[in-house]
Amino acid sequence: MGKVVGKVFTLLIVVLAVFLWVGSAITSLTGGEKKAGGAVDMSPEGGEAIFWGKGRCYTCHSIGDSGSAVRCPNLGVWGDKFPLPIGERAKERAKQREKDTGLPYTPADYLIESLANPSAYLVEGFKNEMAVVYAPPISLSLNEIKAAILYLLSQGGEVDVNAINNPTELSKKFYDRVIAGSQAGGGDPGHGEEVFMGAGCIDCHKLKGQGGDIGPDLTTIGTKGFKSISESILRPADTFTPGYETYTVIKKDGKEMFDASGKKVSGVKIKDSADSVDIAVSAGVIINVPKSEIKELQIDKNKSVMPDEIVEVITVKDYQDIVAFMLLQKGEKKK
Ligand code: HEC
Ligand code: HEC
Repeated sequence: MGKVVGKVFTLLIVVLAVFLWVGSAITSLTGGEKKAGGAVDMSPEGGEAIFWGKGRCYTCHSIGDSGSAVRCPNLGVWGDKFPLPIGERAKERAKQREKDTGLPYTPADYLIESLANPSAYLVEGFKNEMAVVYAPPISLSLNEIKAAILYLLSQGGEVDVNAINNPTELSKKFYDRVIAGSQAGGGDPGHGEEVFMGAGCIDCHKLKGQGGDIGPDLTTIGTKGFKSISESILRPADTFTPGYETYTVIKKDGKEMFDASGKKVSGVKIKDSADSVDIAVSAGVIINVPKSEIKELQIDKNKSVMPDEIVEVITVKDYQDIVAFMLLQKGEKKK
């Protein structure tokens, strides 16, 4: 885009934004819509304001002739490529998703998924460049996203506020994803799962029956909430999970024990039998110590086996993605 065109484009957006702001100010002055402080107007009109305002959808999408963005799918009727407006198009997409996944999709399910997990389905001819709208800088709340969906549905489809408020099982999963992602500061749980597997977390932790035994099973960790999860990852030694304390082996001579490679024998006690204990020092490193050599097992409150340098080796984004992924783990524990 040339510089002049770029400026004109920016100016257009500014004018549009002012126009919308004045419009909404007038609407609220005239009592057109009653909104308690910050509450979202759960209607197509409320969603329209988000689409052309805070949601910044208009920076990428136009709707038919409305708007000036051309680089992303037009959400109205546009040329041969988009013969159906998005409310109606969503029906076709839902059928396609049903075929791809074997799950029952409603048009609303499709639209919610396209905002909650944009990379799940890519419109043909476009790249995975749809904004994660619940993450900064856009940071839409779940209710704002719901309103935006109502607006999209109103483009040729059936507006069903009830369906949005009483979501299908599938939509509930997408809502959960938005909630977890926003709590984690904009994390993408799908990518979080990859990081969880790649960064070695799975070597120590079980998840749905898979993984190591050194740390606690994380299958239901989501129920502990954001604060607990983030603190466990940022400062593991501040919050020991009961049963996973760090024990340092003190030999009969009163000194700390070191293994053949010079490593201090200190870690989670994963087995305690009549004549020996197994101490997990790190992932895959388990040392069997005969009880005859032990004076005592001393609890070390300052060091968790869970590495505290994790946040230094992964990016902030990866950390947020992992936390979002952890928040979604509310499943049944398997033996
Ligand atoms: C940074 C640019 C960008 C922003 C901002 C953006 N989108 Fe998108 N959107 C895309 C791209 C690119 C695609 C096509 C790729 C894909 O399917 O994910 C897309 C796809 C979609 C689709 C699927 C369209 C179809 O034909 O099935 C919907 C619905 C959608 N966006 C809605 C929204 C809404 C609502 C907002 C604002 C809350 C928004 N988008 C903000 C870039 C963006
Ligand atoms: C070397 C083994 C090890 C690795 C690798 C490891 N952890 Fe841990 N983790 C533990 C141990 C042991 C505990 C329990 C002690 C504690 O709370 O510090 C724990 C505790 C946790 C908890 C708190 C559990 C609860 O019940 O509250 C979370 C969450 C967690 N880890 C997530 C992760 C994530 C995410 C990664 C990867 C980035 C990871 N862990 C990597 C060993 C490990």
